[in-house]
Amino acid sequence: MAKKTVTIDDLKKSLTLIVGKKQILFPERAEDNALCQSYLEESRGRSVGKALAIVFPSSTEEVAQIVATCRYHKTPVVPQGGNTGRCLGAQTDDENAVIINLKNMNKIRQLDSDNMTMTVEAGCILQDLQDYAAKADLFFPLSLGSEGSCQIGGNLATNAGGINVLRYGNARELTLGVEAVTANGTVLNELYGLRKNNTGYDLKSLFIGSEGTLGIITAVTLKLFPPEINNEHAFVAVKNIDDAVSCLRTLQRHFGNKISTFELIPQQAIAFLEKHSELTCPIENHHPWYVWYKIADSNPATPLFDENLIILDKLMAEGTVITATVAQNESMKQYFAQIREMIVEVQKCEGHSIKFDVSVPVSAIANLVEKGNAAAKAICPNIRPYPFGHIGDGNIHYNFNCPVGIDDATYRLNYQEKLQQAIYDIIDGLDGSFSAEHGIGSQKLAEMKYYKDPIALDLMRRIKHAFDPFYLMNPNKVIPPLAKKSREEGSDNN
Ligand code: MLT
Ligand code: ZN
Repeated sequence: MAKKTVTIDDLKKSLTLIVGKKQILFPERAEDNALCQSYLEESRGRSVGKALAIVFPSSTEEVAQIVATCRYHKTPVVPQGGNTGRCLGAQTDDENAVIINLKNMNKIRQLDSDNMTMTVEAGCILQDLQDYAAKADLFFPLSLGSEGSCQIGGNLATNAGGINVLRYGNARELTLGVEAVTANGTVLNELYGLRKNNTGYDLKSLFIGSEGTLGIITAVTLKLFPPEINNEHAFVAVKNIDDAVSCLRTLQRHFGNKISTFELIPQQAIAFLEKHSELTCPIENHHPWYVWYKIADSNPATPLFDENLIILDKLMAEGTVITATVAQNESMKQYFAQIREMIVEVQKCEGHSIKFDVSVPVSAIANLVEKGNAAAKAICPNIRPYPFGHIGDGNIHYNFNCPVGIDDATYRLNYQEKLQQAIYDIIDGLDGSFSAEHGIGSQKLAEMKYYKDPIALDLMRRIKHAFDPFYLMNPNKVIPPLAKKSREEGSDNN
């Protein structure tokens, strides 16, 4: 009897049987093409990938069946959440790969208010989880610009950070348990809600930040906190970054970990904000730097407002803070937060920017920006540095807008590679990280190869091999292929 050959059509049929006709898209099919766009295109619209199919499973069992089927067909799988990532982690150029989008896995399985945890499926939208916790009089602190569309599975896969890391930590610190589908289609159930669990290797920590290269996170158990019902927001102007850091330390000495947000905003961002949006700086006159910070407590009786004014008076008297404005009501608080979000958006109106998501010890941020700006200006004299972000935890989005009058392509072509080498070398010299909160994806493989400790990389390769011997789980992400990518090949920036 002739041996039956297994075809791509068999794979397509099997996948369709698992999820049903309405939960699968085939990019090559004319009627699906437009619908596929948002799953194939990356978050900043820089590229459109390819795929054999995009599947939308509704349960962990379906994810497991899809992975097992793809493994049988030796077909790569690419897990995808809200597709808001910055490093091309949820895209592929492989027209034979299957994208597994988890948006239908959006159930909240349990909220345990006494244990202060909630167990949720990977496709839940981050903002929905914040709202759900709030309804139970609890607080889930992970907060980032894309929270209205990013999914918690993706947040864990990239170990997302955001504006509250200073107090609560990254996604990893907020996670107590995970459920994940492994490369051979089995289900790892480590959905514990335990704060103590010393039973060997911490597998959940491996899945967090692995960007789907070891398996697919399908559900998670998250830590919850008392709500920050008592909170105060301030917007202050400072002369330099050292003063911003002194201001943070003074506030922390007084308020302890009640300082949950502490974000740096440069004058350049305020200039773009006022030019390209309806928003204006809440502080009059121009100053070199601004900080938006939040102090929060769950106890309504704590006199945060008054105490903050006392500390600000002291900081202004000693010259650490030039001037300050405090939010008098909820809408002012929202206005400060809106300014912080908008400074990301308005950058786009000023042409291409070469972006870095980097971290150094907080004590080295001033040094980073001084050295980085000098190096950038030596490479491209009229470049416009735009360093902003989570100064409280050492993570700066160190972006560089093109000089006025240079077109995007010329800027990229002439300066991107040189600037990347200069900035990443400075970061390396300051014992910093070339990727603070956006991950690696396929975009920073060259930097992984060049800057990551070789022993660490070797161990990562062995772990990858142990978890995924056929190399089918989100291939070509996170771990650079051996001896292929070199730093000279460069990478598009994030
Ligand atoms: C932010 O903190 O606003 C983002 O991480 C910046 C970005 O998405 O580039
Ligand atoms: Zn950020």
